[in-house]
Amino acid sequence: MSASVALDRLHTWQRSVLANLPTPLYSAKRLAAELRESPIDLFVKMDAETGFALGGNKVRKLEFELAPERLEGVSRLLTAGGPQSNHCRVTAAAAARLGLKCTLVLSGPEPLDPTGNALLHRLFAAEIVTVPDRSERTDRMESVAVEYAARGEQVLVVPIGASTGLGCLGYARAAVELTKQLDHLGPSPRRTWLFVPSSSCGTSAGLLLGISLLGREDVQLVGVSADVSAAEVTARTLEIARDGAELLGWQGQMLDNLTALDDQVGEGYGVPTPAGLEALELFARTEGLVLDPTYTAKAAAALVAWTRAGKFSAGDRVVFLHTGGHPGLLA
Ligand SMILES: Cc1ncc(COP(=O)(O)O)c(C=O)c1O
Repeated sequence: MSASVALDRLHTWQRSVLANLPTPLYSAKRLAAELRESPIDLFVKMDAETGFALGGNKVRKLEFELAPERLEGVSRLLTAGGPQSNHCRVTAAAAARLGLKCTLVLSGPEPLDPTGNALLHRLFAAEIVTVPDRSERTDRMESVAVEYAARGEQVLVVPIGASTGLGCLGYARAAVELTKQLDHLGPSPRRTWLFVPSSSCGTSAGLLLGISLLGREDVQLVGVSADVSAAEVTARTLEIARDGAELLGWQGQMLDNLTALDDQVGEGYGVPTPAGLEALELFARTEGLVLDPTYTAKAAAALVAWTRAGKFSAGDRVVFLHTGGHPGLLA
């Protein structure tokens, strides 16, 4: 199947519409001027403003995971994440919007005084099952699904981060949306660098699939890990992108346009770093943007480091994908 037929399939794929799209792309001139004497051409793609349930990148993926045909007969959504999971927040809100029950398997102890996403999980009326450690979430989710099935409930299990071939189609569509916006800015520069916070890698996978379908060799993805190694980001991204391509019936080659970074992880998932906190303060002070310490601040720190180190060539364009997550800052 040709890429253009696959793109048609992508655009006609059934989804539950939850997001406000397209999200804005705007020029971050004050931030660019602060970073270098001869400022880079810097833009922010505001997926923090997908809107639904405080927005972020999970909304686009869940539109596909929760497509109407997949919800026939379903009474409950079941997913898992960390105590401040953005993915769990949006899944619980989508269940409320779609008239479904929701159970979240969350790692860590039950908080005495829930804040940020933990507060929102409960506000959206999700039932919560806790496990002591992140490594136990997937197994517990499977056993909880069996328990509900035994009680006659039809459960739709949404894998962690909705980072599946199906979920990534949301970001393949986002790649089409973003490249259209970039093309409206004027003649394409030689290269556009797109910085993407990465963890379960559905976002980077969808973007890779999208730019591959479009044949946009000029768009270079930089996946900045919040937790796993760079090798894992690359492997996961490719695997999920291929699953997405298979759903669309496309057998073409993925572009070799992904650089994965793990030099901003610091002491690990959810542990803020000095560079991340500096970037968080810089984005807020110069552009009025709210980042989160777990994902977006670490990706922003990578962008700041690359800019200061002069890694971009004259005429390059740089885009930061703001994937949301700000409730985590308020936790
Ligand atoms: C705010 C935010 N940004 C980025 C990511 C990473 O996205 P992905 O899991 O698709 O790599 C997440 C995922 O948990 C997130 O919540």
